[in-house]
Amino acid sequence: MINNILVTGGAGFIGANFIRMLLNECPGLNVVNLDLLTYAGNLSSLSDCAGKPGYVFVHGDIKDYNTVSGTIKKYGIEGVINFAAESHVDRSISGPGIFIETNVTGTLNLLQCAKECKIKRFMQISTDEVYGSLGSEGMFTEASLIKPNSPYSASKAAADHLVHAFHHTFGMDTVITRCSNNYGPYQFPEKMIPLCINNARHDKPIPVYGDGLQIRDWLYVYDHCSAIWAVFRKASAGEVFNVGGCNEKSNLELVKSILKILGKPESLISFVKDRPGHDRRYAIDASRIMKTFDWKPSVTFEEGIEKTVKWYLANQDWLDMVTSGDYRKYYEQMYSGRSPL
Ligand code: NAD
Ligand code: TYD
Repeated sequence: MINNILVTGGAGFIGANFIRMLLNECPGLNVVNLDLLTYAGNLSSLSDCAGKPGYVFVHGDIKDYNTVSGTIKKYGIEGVINFAAESHVDRSISGPGIFIETNVTGTLNLLQCAKECKIKRFMQISTDEVYGSLGSEGMFTEASLIKPNSPYSASKAAADHLVHAFHHTFGMDTVITRCSNNYGPYQFPEKMIPLCINNARHDKPIPVYGDGLQIRDWLYVYDHCSAIWAVFRKASAGEVFNVGGCNEKSNLELVKSILKILGKPESLISFVKDRPGHDRRYAIDASRIMKTFDWKPSVTFEEGIEKTVKWYLANQDWLDMVTSGDYRKYYEQMYSGRSPL
């Protein structure tokens, strides 16, 4: 039984949704959120969680040995779940260096600290993008080759290999999940879905790369979080689980469905130059996690996308704040003037 958990990257999109789920659904659990608060991480995503019993925020870098090992010791951490990463493919194309520093060197530091502190379980939140791209047929299984194509996915694949190496070489208890594209509340609006909603609400063009026929397999973020929690609690040491929603959509279909919910015209769609090396299709075979842990998504794509669009419309101040970079007023509200920055 693990009661004290270190979540890294918990101020980002998926990490914040995961922490909220734990605090709402698992009373008695102690959760420490270690986050550097980069452009993608921001405490306003957890404003309803600040001050809840069992929740602590630590402002720090996963690459910093003293911060990580000090936090593990101070809070008696028994399990680590690593969400912290640079996560945007386009940024990895314009500047790959920080992806290696955060996603590879950062994960290595976490593994070393976890090993020294005899952590009971280390979980790595990985991505289906480590498997590369599919043609029109087939799906990624846990046995698919690791064949990443972008600097982002290459850095995530390297981290997965390190996690496996610490299990194989040092006998560390590690588990990995590889999930498809997530959508839902609190996603930074550089990613396709919140970017589309953000632009459409201002009647700005929506950039669709290339022919817009690339396919992604979309999963509502809460359902990724419930899968992570199932794997963290129940998987055997060394196991890898794919997570996905069986919701393959082309980018064009996706944008059209969002515009329809928003009541905006398709004339906002603007075809732009393709992303270099753009992966054509991702599709996840999630049958293993479904059979092993009886996990399944709680919402259909249609329900999830409707909820998501409504959430962004109801939280336009959040969108304005993260796009302007002005987090100060949120931190002042949450910390009574004692901002962690
Ligand atoms: P995100 O970019 O929204 O959040 C990343 C978080 O990590 C931010 O809060 C940021 O401040 C923090 N961070 C960055 N560098 C750090 C450092 N050096 N030390 C401490 N914190 C640092 O990412 P996300 O979309 O929430 O993704 C979380 C994880 O899930 C990532 O590892 C990503 O690869 C993986 N993943 C994401 C998706 C998706 O669709 N978003 C799908 C599958 C897997
Ligand atoms: P994204 O949300 O960046 O996720 P990923 O690249 O990790 O799958 O992009 C989802 C899809 O949308 C991907 O095929 C790239 C495409 N895309 C656009 O067409 N235009 C955009 O402005 C963005 C950000 C993405």
